[in-house]
Amino acid sequence: MRKSLIILAILLCGAVFFTACEYEFIVHPDTTDPEGPGGDDPISFSQQIVPIFTSRCLNCHDTGDTSPDLSAANAYSSITSDNLVNTTNPESSILYDYIKPSTSGHSWRKYTNNQAALVLKWIEEGAKNN
Ligand code: HEC
Repeated sequence: MRKSLIILAILLCGAVFFTACEYEFIVHPDTTDPEGPGGDDPISFSQQIVPIFTSRCLNCHDTGDTSPDLSAANAYSSITSDNLVNTTNPESSILYDYIKPSTSGHSWRKYTNNQAALVLKWIEEGAKNN
């Protein structure tokens, strides 16, 4: 009787432990943060920057909504025509500086660390429509 209680206690602890692990795995920040810039490969605007806008910005910055229009079709032209990127001083670009994780502005939503790094590297590489 006593032995089976101990076994039951051990099983219960195991279950709690496993649930905790699984939970941590699901909410771990690294698993929700997409890849940052890696290696020397140039950043692709259409493959790496536009998806950030599409997944995190369009609910407010779609065509006809709050400016800048960050829809896939118009993002590049609105970013450049609104002077949101500064290739001479990339870190001062509004598209980076105003949305980066440590910004005090744009409380609506900010980039993750990796997204901010991607955007900055893309501007440093000349903000190409690639
Ligand atoms: C919940 C709504 C919301 C979301 C989501 C959102 N924004 Fe905004 N954003 C705004 C509003 C409202 C403004 C205008 C007021 C201000 O400047 O803060 C704005 C302003 C901006 C500006 C400044 C434009 C200028 O000319 O100064 C940029 C750049 C910008 N957003 C980029 C982004 C990016 C990039 C994302 C996604 C990571 C994003 N926003 C997500 C609401 C949002």
